[in-house]
Amino acid sequence: MKTADTATTVGKINPDVLAFTEGKDPVLDLALAEVDCLGTAAHVTMLSHMDFRPVLFTETQRVAVIRALRDIIDEVRRGVFTITAADQDVHLAVERRLTERLGDLGKKVHTCRSRNDQVAVDIRLHVRNELNALSEEVADLAEALLAFGETYRKIPLVGRTHLQPAMPSSVGMWASAYAEMLLDDGYLLEAAAKVNNLCPLGSAAGYGVPLPIDRQLTSDLLAFDRPHHNVFYASCARGKDEAVLLAACAQIMLSLSRLAEDLILFSMPEFRYFTLPRDLCTGSSIMPQKYNPDVLELIRGKAALLLGQSTAANVILKAMPGGYNRDLQDTKELYMEGLRVTRTSLRIMKLMAENLKVNPEACRAAFAEPGVFATDRALELVAGGMPFRDAYHQVRDHLEDLRGMDPDEVIAKKTHLGGTNGIDFAALRGRAEAFRAQAAAAQARVDAAFASLMNV
Ligand code: ARG
Repeated sequence: MKTADTATTVGKINPDVLAFTEGKDPVLDLALAEVDCLGTAAHVTMLSHMDFRPVLFTETQRVAVIRALRDIIDEVRRGVFTITAADQDVHLAVERRLTERLGDLGKKVHTCRSRNDQVAVDIRLHVRNELNALSEEVADLAEALLAFGETYRKIPLVGRTHLQPAMPSSVGMWASAYAEMLLDDGYLLEAAAKVNNLCPLGSAAGYGVPLPIDRQLTSDLLAFDRPHHNVFYASCARGKDEAVLLAACAQIMLSLSRLAEDLILFSMPEFRYFTLPRDLCTGSSIMPQKYNPDVLELIRGKAALLLGQSTAANVILKAMPGGYNRDLQDTKELYMEGLRVTRTSLRIMKLMAENLKVNPEACRAAFAEPGVFATDRALELVAGGMPFRDAYHQVRDHLEDLRGMDPDEVIAKKTHLGGTNGIDFAALRGRAEAFRAQAAAAQARVDAAFASLMNV
């Protein structure tokens, strides 16, 4: 049997098997290289604090390892760190690099650790950083929609049910609805952050180790809320954080997809309520007149991809037996791709929201058909003392009388909470700001913990 003779760290493996099992890890794991070093720094620091003889790591050895890890992080940032096929993944690549630099000391870092808890902690550290950035992007888009909505809050828009004209709405109501939807999706990100911010390190292969490690210390060093309690559960929890995050991302993409659909519709020449700036549209190779909303169509498509990635992650977990299983490796790719798509989509939608033009005359022209005022008129009659059902019939029999009603007047009358003239833009902006501030503060805590961990 031919074997990959360079695979010295964990034995010789048939090259085809090696290629199949490592899959895209040598590439995907590059995104984890920095957090892998941080996880190792925390682990070695914890080992150096252990009240255990013989001493596992002296302070001098700890400092040497951390310095070497800092150099590796530097290589990662300069783009010169590589994961070879023989390494299989980032964990063995970092260990190889440490051993190249530190000799026997490098061979000690895997004491009381397995790649199972190592990859689990790497992903959680990665998810945490990404979640904070993603949360800020959600806040950015919500704020862009609120700014747009507030600017055009007095422009009437035909409100629709079943896509048919229903009742007068406004551009402010339309835009701030999607902002509020995104802020509610933010609750799911908060839940995902809570599920994610637990430290699996020390579970090792999934059953702990026979030495008195301090799992609380490792967790504190990495600024987790706490360690997972049961080490077997810590290993079973791999994949859950990614699946929960993907579910939250899928909800965000559903919100974006519905926003995109409205924009496609309302920017059609037949509606012309909005105009997409030409430089955010794409042309046709044959039809010279075209400015197409490809961005918005791609958002719709990418919402489908996210639903697929979220479903795939859940299905991988569905019949997963307890303990580590290699299928878990595939949740990593789903998570990374799903996250990338969601973040890109949020940023491109913000560009759309910031540059969208409103055509007030087209918005008002859509009120030429009088039916859209019918319900408001019926309720006016109710306010004059008529029972609602009588008012309903009277209006239905005299729809033509409503022709020429002023949509500006009608939308100004809805002053109740959340009505066309009752939207609390300041409160919604406050929610967006608070959401961003919370993510920024969480990231600042993480950055401070990392700085002190690596500061030797
Ligand atoms: N690349 C692997 C993963 O993502 C790392 C863990 C491998 N551990 C193992 N026992 N085969 O899951």
